[in-house]
Parts: sequence; structure tokens; C-alpha cells
Amino acid sequence: MKTIHVETANRGYDILIGHNTLSKIGAEVKALGLGKSIFLITSPKIGGHYLEPLLKSLKAKGFTDISVNKVPDGEKHKSMISYNKLLRRILAFSKDDNKRILVLNLGGGVVGDLGGFVAATYRRGIPYVQVPTTLLAFVDCGIGGKVGVNLNSTKNIIGAFHQPVLVHADLSLLKTLHKRELKSGLAEIVKYGVINSYELFEFIEENVDNIFSLNRKVIDEIATRSYTIKAGLVADDEFDQKGIRAVLNYGHTVGHAVEAASKYAYRHGEAVSIGIVCVNDIAVQQGWLDKNVAARIENLLIKVGLPVSIKNCSIKDIMKHFWSDKKFVNGINRLIIARDIGKTEIKEDIPVMVIESAIKKRFLRKK
Ligand SMILES: NC(=O)c1ccc[n+]([C@@H]2O[C@H](COP(=O)([O-])OP(=O)(O)OC[C@H]3O[C@@H](n4cnc5c(N)ncnc54)[C@H](O)[C@@H]3O)[C@@H](O)[C@H]2O)c1
Repeated sequence: MKTIHVETANRGYDILIGHNTLSKIGAEVKALGLGKSIFLITSPKIGGHYLEPLLKSLKAKGFTDISVNKVPDGEKHKSMISYNKLLRRILAFSKDDNKRILVLNLGGGVVGDLGGFVAATYRRGIPYVQVPTTLLAFVDCGIGGKVGVNLNSTKNIIGAFHQPVLVHADLSLLKTLHKRELKSGLAEIVKYGVINSYELFEFIEENVDNIFSLNRKVIDEIATRSYTIKAGLVADDEFDQKGIRAVLNYGHTVGHAVEAASKYAYRHGEAVSIGIVCVNDIAVQQGWLDKNVAARIENLLIKVGLPVSIKNCSIKDIMKHFWSDKKFVNGINRLIIARDIGKTEIKEDIPVMVIESAIKKRFLRKK
């Protein structure tokens, strides 16, 4: 398996990347030497595909004390209610002998963020392993240590920084993923291209069909490049305080607002795609971004099959969620702006009218 090391303040950890590698997890977890009891979190659908081989691999290495916990699918379950249920279960699992527990998350961003938050807070933090299963989780949420839940439809407002002890990325799991979810993950990869790497952006432009046919070489390439970009940003700014990691929010401020205003009818990456074109429109309008570059980014999002216009939500709701963004300090907005492909800048206090009018222009016109 290929290994990418993520360096963090306390300790680093490895991202292991391969194909058809679930059978190796038992040995990897054993090598961590973090106890014998595993609190596994997944969803019924993901568990239906991959729980059996995962459990087989763990049991083969002597892990017999495993609690399997299934959280229903959907963003609305990345909630305090699910978190509370899981905390009660982990407490019941550990209570008899105060055992040492390792959390193992098998799933996409919902399971990863939620399970990571359980691990971050139970007994003030216990270790966890991420086994991502969506393209989005492979390249983004599986790593970096941002974990949390939504509250009252405000995205990720409750959370913590808690790095995993291992990320096991078996890219062959993508074969059962719905195409809509693949597209959603691609939004984050296009984002990596725009914020950090012209080469990656060009590579996606040239390989959209190969990505959808899950060409092994191409999937390996985009996963490795994305992981390398994120690992670098996390290492330089683990706690998101230096304005380095903030670039990962490109397209996310408006994207999160659209996602929440649509009551999660949009998948995360779909909302990010809309967020990207809106923020590019603002940048073009302000003279920060060449309109041809903005058009090129938009064309790639369209080619991937991602939405670039808004339907089924109101501007009022979007703006309400926009202002509840946790990155804004004292009501001053803060957006990541693309200056070119591979180059971004943080801009603050952009006139509200400019933002609102850019978003409004992206509403789908009724014919
Ligand atoms: N922590 C971070 O740094 C970070 C970064 C980006 C996004 N996120 C979060 O990630 C979440 C979105 O995650 P997501 O897009 O992975 O969605 P998700 O976790 O909701 O999964 C999407 C769907 O795909 C199904 N699925 C997952 N893996 C599958 C597989 N291999 N085969 C078949 N079906 C499978 C799931 O059951 C679910 O129905 C959002 O809450 C977002 O805020 C977190």
C-alpha cells in the first residue's frame, strides 16, 4: 500500500492507500497497540457492503470484543441526537471494566465526522481509525482531524480537532458508491486543483471519463494528489489559525449556506460546486479573477455533472445560514477568493449587496 504521512503537533499518522485491502485492517489495528476493544461506527447501507470483511479481518487478529453501531444515512443524522446515542452506547460498552477503546469509523463524511467527535470527547479523547468509503471522505473528511456535528441546521457548529491514529483508504470501495456521490466528491477535488495545483486541475479536465469508470491509475492519482495537498495544509496549520488551512473553505461558505437552506437536498459537494461559482462571480465582479478563468472552472464543474445554479431554496434562507458561518468574527464576512487556478486569497468584509446579488444571479430561471 502507498503511505502518506500527516505530520501534526502531538503525533503524526499514516494514510494507507490501496485497493482491495480491507483484509489487512486487523493487522494494522493490532500494530497500533491501542487495546483490544473496538467501538465500530457505520451506517446500515455501508455496513451491508463492507462490515463482514472488516469484522473478519479484525477477528482474525484476535479482536473479539467489538461493538457495532449503525447510524442512519443522511446529513440530518450528523446530529447531537446521534452523538448522544453513541455516547450512551460507548459508555455501556466500556462500563464493566473501564476498558481501553478504539473507535473505528467505516463510512463517508457523516460517519467520519460524527464518530470522530465521539472519539474526541469521550473520556476527553480516545483514539480512532478512519476507514473512508466515499470519494469525498477519501480525499477530504477522512483526514485532518476536524470532527463534529450540526446543530439546528447550522453545519459543523459543534466540534473539535482530533486527529485519527490511522486512515485506511481502500479505493476499491468506490465501486459500490452511487454516481451522484462520486460527483459530489469530485467537487472537493476540483477545489484542491483551484486552491493549490494547476496540474491537478488539468488532470481532472483530461480524465473525467476515466474517473467515472474508476480507472485504477487515475483514481490513485487524484486520491494521492489530494491527500498530499491536504496533509501539507494540515501540517502547516493544524488548528486552522494561520490562514493556511482556511483555503480549504474555498466555495464552502456559500456552499454550506445553500446546503443548509436546501435542508440537505443538495449533497455536500453539489452545494460546494454552487458555492464555488458564486464566489467566483463575486471575484470577477470585484476584478480579482479573470472571467475566462472563472468560466474554465465552471465548465469543469459542469463537465463533472455538478450543479452551478440554485433551485428549491430561497435567498432569504441562504443569507440567514450564510451569516451563521462560524468563521465570521463579529459579523465580518470572510471568503476564500480564487485569483487564478492554483492561487487564492482571503478577503474580508465584502459588501453584502455584492454577495447577495451574486447568489441571486445563480437562481435557476423558470422558463
Ligand atoms: N471533517 C472534514 O474535514 C470534512 C470535509 C468535507 C466534508 N465533510 C463532511 O462530510 C459530510 C458528507 O460526507 P459524504 O459526502 O461522504 O456523505 P455521506 O457520509 O452522507 O455518504 C453519502 C451516501 O453514500 C453512502 N455510501 C458511503 N460509502 C458508500 C460505498 N462505498 N458504497 C455505497 N454507498 C456508500 C452512504 O450510505 C450515504 O448514503 C458532510 O457532513 C460534510 O460536512 C467533513
